[in-house]
Amino acid sequence: MKNKPNLQNAYNLKSPDDNIKLYSAWAETYDNSFIINMQYKLHFAVAEEFILNGGSGLILDVGAGTGALAEALLQKVKFNIEATDISKEMLKVADSKKIYKRCFVSDLTKRIPVGDSFYDGVVSSGTFTHGHVGPSSMDELVRITKAGG
Ligand SMILES: C[S@@+](CC[C@H](N)C(=O)[O-])C[C@H]1O[C@@H](n2cnc3c(N)ncnc32)[C@H](O)[C@@H]1O
Repeated sequence: MKNKPNLQNAYNLKSPDDNIKLYSAWAETYDNSFIINMQYKLHFAVAEEFILNGGSGLILDVGAGTGALAEALLQKVKFNIEATDISKEMLKVADSKKIYKRCFVSDLTKRIPVGDSFYDGVVSSGTFTHGHVGPSSMDELVRITKAGG
């Protein structure tokens, strides 16, 4: 079944609409079935790198999902983090954890609804990968990040 939530089906997604469908079905069980059962660790490595590189200020977690990266960051430093994702169901789980200052839906392959140079930094884990988001969104991420961010 194409929309069965698992890593292989996630890697085979073809479009933002495919992502919306799969992650709406996965949101409620993602933390247990993926993060815990598959011993997902990428968010810890990204958090470590961001801190090592001096990340600070207002941060946007793009493709935030259920909030794994913010949880990893906040274990180390009291960051101000906002979340965006194409799946409102994934963001609903993230929002329930009360770790983000704000959560909003956006499609990273289109215009992100914030002004130029709004964030001090942008972070992401597990979103720039097969079947998800490619390099076309980089210009938009640079636009919303302050110089030097
Ligand atoms: C594997 S999950 C990673 C979630 C979280 N960052 C983590 O590390 O657990 C990928 C996330 O990317 C989001 N995503 C996929 N395509 C997107 C797009 N075009 N714009 C915004 N988010 C997208 C999905 O909805 C999903 O929440």
